[in-house]
Amino acid sequence: MKKIIIAIDGYSSCGKSTLAKSLAARFGYTYIDSGAMYRAVTLYLLNQGVKVEESLSVSEALKAINIRFAPNNHTLLNGEDVEQEIRQMAVSNYVSEVAAVPEVRRAMVSQQQQMGAEKGLVMDGRDIGTVVFPKAELKIFLTADPDIRAKRRYEELLHKRQDASLQEVKANLAHRDHIDSTREDSPLRKAADAIIIDNTLLNREEQLERAIFLAQQAGA
Ligand code: DC
Repeated sequence: MKKIIIAIDGYSSCGKSTLAKSLAARFGYTYIDSGAMYRAVTLYLLNQGVKVEESLSVSEALKAINIRFAPNNHTLLNGEDVEQEIRQMAVSNYVSEVAAVPEVRRAMVSQQQQMGAEKGLVMDGRDIGTVVFPKAELKIFLTADPDIRAKRRYEELLHKRQDASLQEVKANLAHRDHIDSTREDSPLRKAADAIIIDNTLLNREEQLERAIFLAQQAGA
């Protein structure tokens, strides 16, 4: 059967990874959370006390960083499972600054493109349909009402017993959306040929059904 690449982009906390994971499972494809890669770099820089302005130190850090995914999709930073740590607010509060550094982006994009060499891949992020896989057979741009997004993310953090207020989550989403869509290097934007799914009023199953239909139309 033909394998395709499915690119899913959109603002923070739109449910991209939930959709991407389910789609990958449905078609037996590999799922890659590109945001987790930027989060892992951020965690490394925070742990090393490296600031994004220190470009020499960032270059050195990039050489020392190895990012892989375990079979359960957990993110491995130099072999260590950092899945929990990369989701904490300390990382969320700095990741957009790190992801705006051109050198960081070059390194991540090149690794992401290698992951797609054999197709059969669902990747979610901000620049997947525009920069990483501009020729992806299916591009989805996910959106949802900002209040709904904040509420969903807040509930997810509560569920994981992570400490954050709804106010803080809302402010973080607004901050990241702003930086992600206004940065100079590959800002978040909808690819001309991406299909918009607004999931404000859709439940997970309805959203998945729509995406499966699109994927099948695209040849999956
Ligand atoms: O998807 P996420 O919220 O875990 O992503 C974390 C940050 O990484 C997000 O604020 C922007 C950045 N990012 C990016 O710049 N490009 C991507 N392809 C994925 C994420």
